[in-house]
Amino acid sequence: MIGKIRGMEEEKDPERRIGVSKRNRILLLLSGEHPSLPYSEVYAVLEGEGVEFVELERCDQVLVVEGDERIGRHLERRAAYVMEGGALILQSKPSVGELLQACSRADWSFLKGQSFGVRISRVKEYWREISSSEVERLVGGAIKDLTDSRVDLESPEVWIRGVITNCGISLYRLDFRTDRKAFVRRRPKSRPFFHPGVLEPKIARVFVNLSRVREGERFLDPFSGTGGFLIEAALLGLHTYGADLDIRMVKGAAKNLRYHGLDADLILGDARNLPFNEVDGIATDPPYGRGTSTKGESVKEILTDFMREAHGVIKEGGFMCIAAPQEVAIQEIAISSGFKLHEMHTMRVHKSLTRSIVVVERVAG
Ligand SMILES: C[S@@+](CC[C@H](N)C(=O)[O-])C[C@H]1O[C@@H](n2cnc3c(N)ncnc32)[C@H](O)[C@@H]1O
Repeated sequence: MIGKIRGMEEEKDPERRIGVSKRNRILLLLSGEHPSLPYSEVYAVLEGEGVEFVELERCDQVLVVEGDERIGRHLERRAAYVMEGGALILQSKPSVGELLQACSRADWSFLKGQSFGVRISRVKEYWREISSSEVERLVGGAIKDLTDSRVDLESPEVWIRGVITNCGISLYRLDFRTDRKAFVRRRPKSRPFFHPGVLEPKIARVFVNLSRVREGERFLDPFSGTGGFLIEAALLGLHTYGADLDIRMVKGAAKNLRYHGLDADLILGDARNLPFNEVDGIATDPPYGRGTSTKGESVKEILTDFMREAHGVIKEGGFMCIAAPQEVAIQEIAISSGFKLHEMHTMRVHKSLTRSIVVVERVAG
């Protein structure tokens, strides 16, 4: 059932939330590829970009936030796990009757006579008894009766989208869609230099976003391999630095970056002894001691030495997103090196590998 939604109630002082000047409520439709990373990515992008926002509601694959107008723009440009979003129009319990009542109370003035289409999607199997095509037809008819706009299902001027989730039914105006196909076009096997063990561009982008580095700031991947993270970072306009112990990787990453028309500062070097002064954030996928080279050393030893080095290289208040096999307990290594644990996710890769993904912060002192 739909819960009481924070921020939807009348407030004594509506501008009480500092920094929120325009009360835009934005519904974000998230990818179902991971249970927790999509929500964290939204937070990381908006916090990294310095956008003020508050979370109003969290449902399965849906996040409703309130904040300034830049929310959609930043997420459209950066996020890998946000599919689309737009201004929230209404929320209803999962009942067609209640939805139509909510439609009759909603403010449709934004349509301003423009043509519109309605498309309803369903997250997983929620409320299967409600037919999405019937909802599309009924909502479309209701809006037509309530406004002077006409329906156009081919190329309307405004798309009204709806999503059926565990929380009920929400309608929103489609304001942006992220380019999902661009990640597929950049798949590692399409690059001139490939090595197994490289993460797919979408998850590489999530790692980069979790480091909270913004355009013009310094981003580092100290185990840069074929350059997958460097490509995602450079595409976002970050000043991108990479290091790898293997000359074939350094040359291969340079080739891959050139192939995408991008540039990064790459060095042949050891992540445990980096020549960089101060970077704003780090995202990295170090060797796991399986497919990738560790030159005979234990992953735990390498990561323990690396963490100490990373603590000296990253700025105060900077974030690092790093992955490791779960049994390595990377979060403990990070904490004993002085980092503060910000969040932790797990990702099952196959029967014998579950990856921990941790985000840590270098706190002052
Ligand atoms: C899992 S791969 C990184 C994959 C990378 N994200 C990509 O996009 O291809 C780990 C990389 O760490 C490198 N490596 C291993 N030990 C290292 C060390 N001490 N310092 C720097 N790089 C190291 C390996 O050569 C390998 O390329």
